[in-house]
Amino acid sequence: MKGLETFASIEHLDSESKYLVHKAKEATNHAYAPYSKFFVGAALILADDTVVTGSNQENASYSLCMCAERATLFAASSTNPDKKINKIAVVAHRKNHKELLPTAPCGACRQVLLEYEVRQGKDIAIVVLGAESEWLIFPSAASLLPLAFSPANLR
Ligand code: THU
Repeated sequence: MKGLETFASIEHLDSESKYLVHKAKEATNHAYAPYSKFFVGAALILADDTVVTGSNQENASYSLCMCAERATLFAASSTNPDKKINKIAVVAHRKNHKELLPTAPCGACRQVLLEYEVRQGKDIAIVVLGAESEWLIFPSAASLLPLAFSPANLR
């Protein structure tokens, strides 16, 4: 089984991952983050190479804020329910500070990623910037969520 892959810089990523990072960066332009001023973008690629992007969408009622990852996954599943998700890249920056900040999916997004991974029966790779400015590719949602509660628990 594939493990976590680490890359010293963006140039070392495979071209597909690089492209997804680029699209995720673009997606931060559509983030609506007036409260946190933390702009998150995500881009995922489906089995037929369709790319779906999304960004965080905040609300004055703070608990209703939606993360970029879930916005993107829900958009993909709503529009392309039968296509498997191969990989998702996530990036973030603060307004007026365009350099990317290390950001991995929050716990809620890991749970949602896992649901789609189990549903499609195929791992979803996750590309993020690590704390040491390295790029990380996690092989699956399950690898980010040990002892997960999953559909199997409801059987
Ligand atoms: N956020 C994401 O979109 N994805 C993450 O993985 C972490 C947090 C958003 C939620 C909120 O709009 C802002 O970032 C600050 O938490």
